[in-house]
Amino acid sequence: MTADDPQLRALRTEDGSFSLFSPAVGEGFHSGRGAVAEARSKFVEPAGLERWGPGQQLVVVDVCVGTGSNTAALLEAAAAAELELEWWGLELDPEPLQLALADGGFRSQWQPAALERLQGLCAGPQMLWGDARTRLPELLNRRRGQVDLVLMDAFSPSRCPQLWSVEFLAGLAALLQPQGRLLTYCSAAAVRQGLLLAGLQLAAIAAPSGLRAERSDWSGGTAASPTALVGDPRLRPLSPMEREHLGTNAAEPYRDPGGQGSRSAILQERQRRQRQRLEAGGVEPTGAWRRRWGLTGGAGHPQ
Ligand SMILES: C[S@@+](CC[C@H](N)C(=O)[O-])C[C@H]1O[C@@H](n2cnc3c(N)ncnc32)[C@H](O)[C@@H]1O
Repeated sequence: MTADDPQLRALRTEDGSFSLFSPAVGEGFHSGRGAVAEARSKFVEPAGLERWGPGQQLVVVDVCVGTGSNTAALLEAAAAAELELEWWGLELDPEPLQLALADGGFRSQWQPAALERLQGLCAGPQMLWGDARTRLPELLNRRRGQVDLVLMDAFSPSRCPQLWSVEFLAGLAALLQPQGRLLTYCSAAAVRQGLLLAGLQLAAIAAPSGLRAERSDWSGGTAASPTALVGDPRLRPLSPMEREHLGTNAAEPYRDPGGQGSRSAILQERQRRQRQRLEAGGVEPTGAWRRRWGLTGGAGHPQ
């Protein structure tokens, strides 16, 4: 945060775990349900760590490390499965991690070995500080086609479209080894479309039990891989509702061809293309899709 920005605010989520709210972005770092619960259900469990045996090493990239919760949860699970991690982190701002590490509640929610390793990793050369768009090429030089897991946890697309562009997602996709997985909490049609354009195959992350129980076609996020994602009970094919969402105007992806676009420029350009496609009659208005599926109000499926 710069001196002009409002300060990050610490908060506790429903599971008692530490999180942050960014007034500058207007969004929390995690869902209210819980930072630890989210790290486990949306990133660690769909990672499918049982695909590797004891002693094997995984290459993982945490995109938007923030407080380090996703990495800490993965470190605990990897230790339990006796897996080694080669870890890389991308993050703009050191303050979320500093605030988390200074918080007794955050420290006590992790096993001491995981916390110590998190601190070591974030202080080391594999923590790539700065705009993830400018640091990703270095990672591609080192690990193109070799990464097993990409944990993608940027702020939501309307708040941070810079990290959900077709170009940035294509870079993340190029990191993955053939069986690698990109995992994200996000199920926005524009993001799924961007992942498809990057040549990845998609699956929905099953929604945590109790969440959106009224609709079994809601997902808890998206998994993407160069190879079809079948046979994993934590993943399922996109529902008919989700597939149709990809044919609507909401699926117009974010574009950032120079890799330096501002949030407003990326959003404006997307709106321009959405208007153009609607006027040309080449796409279904998102409102029509919503009505067909009985989706009322603004809350619900993002974008
Ligand atoms: C939703 S939070 C990440 C939450 C994190 N995974 C955690 O468990 O705490 C989004 C993060 O993206 C970072 N960020 C925002 N813009 C970025 C950019 N252009 N490059 C890298 N990181 C960025 C923010 O500083 C913030 O820490």
